[in-house]
Amino acid sequence: MHFTARAHTNIALLKYWGKADTAIITPTTTSISLTLDEFYTDTTVWFDESLTADKFILDNEIITGHALQKVSRFLNIVRQQAGIASYASVISTNHVPTAAGLASSASAFAALAGAASKAAGLDLTLTELSRLARQGSGSATRSIFGGFAQWTPGNDLTSVGSPLLADADWPIQLMTVVINDQQKEVGSRAGMQHAMTTSPFYDLWVKTANEQVNQMITAIHEHDLMTIGQIAEANALQMHATNMTAVPPFNYLTDKSWEVILMAQELRQKGIPVYATMDAGPNVKLISNPADTEVIKEALLAIVSDNQVINAHPGPGIQINAGDSIC
Ligand code: ADP
Ligand code: DP6
Ligand code: CO
Repeated sequence: MHFTARAHTNIALLKYWGKADTAIITPTTTSISLTLDEFYTDTTVWFDESLTADKFILDNEIITGHALQKVSRFLNIVRQQAGIASYASVISTNHVPTAAGLASSASAFAALAGAASKAAGLDLTLTELSRLARQGSGSATRSIFGGFAQWTPGNDLTSVGSPLLADADWPIQLMTVVINDQQKEVGSRAGMQHAMTTSPFYDLWVKTANEQVNQMITAIHEHDLMTIGQIAEANALQMHATNMTAVPPFNYLTDKSWEVILMAQELRQKGIPVYATMDAGPNVKLISNPADTEVIKEALLAIVSDNQVINAHPGPGIQINAGDSIC
């Protein structure tokens, strides 16, 4: 049986940046995210007894090497859970730049978890899907759910994503400024491990992140855009500070990223609530109110061109269908 899943990316408002357990992927801190409507992955899977190895096609290209290995290792977990041995064909399309710091691994492994588990004959709950997705990429654990979601530290059973506020139906948007859509040099996995093991600021990152969790949850429940933005921007800069203080240091942000971050600070001085957050890449997402879109765009056009700005809003949780496409 072929199954197809669509999962949307999510942007972390409180970041996951470091693993307590690298084998099963559990985090050192609680992360909180917003799933986005504009960016997603569609993945179709079927298990086929005639195959002699797993096959992985991404955006019409046959993939070999490390990315295939990651998919195969993930399929091994699915095969073990389902008690099957056959190899699988995986066909995936990213409606998001791959490995550019726009969370392709989140939508990718959430969609793969959904399609592969169904194709293997498993019928998992959303929590079980979240646990499975986590083992492909930590951020994927949150992409099972729509709207605001959180992922807590814990053991294999307890460290799962859960919805915080699935219907984010009040005015909030993430204006995504695509500064570079090419593959980054340091992947999230290697970057967070290096920061965690060498930055003298890492313990402070964990302590500060712990303090931000309840403040963020309260702000989300109160639909308090300004507090959400303030905490998210502080948390993002703190995460990037662990990279800049790693030994040797590394950095995902470029001059253009900083121009956009400073632009947000300047607009705030004029009374417009707009806050920046950046994942493991140079691209900046601006947390803002849809009512301010035009004034923010105008300021952005002094820095980037119109086609580099994608306006994203809260998106839905995972969809899974029998067949080759999402209907
Ligand atoms: P990002 O910021 O895009 O999440 P990461 O470094 O976390 O970057 O992850 C990128 C990796 O995720 C890719 O190198 C590849 O191994 C994997 N990936 C991306 N898209 C897919 C997909 N659709 N299916 C399977 N794996 C994918
Ligand atoms: C900065 O989930 O991509 O986007 O678990 O090693 O696959 P792995 O890493 P990944 O890391 C995401 C890091 C981040 C913050 C976040 O999404 O929480
Ligand atoms: Co990722």
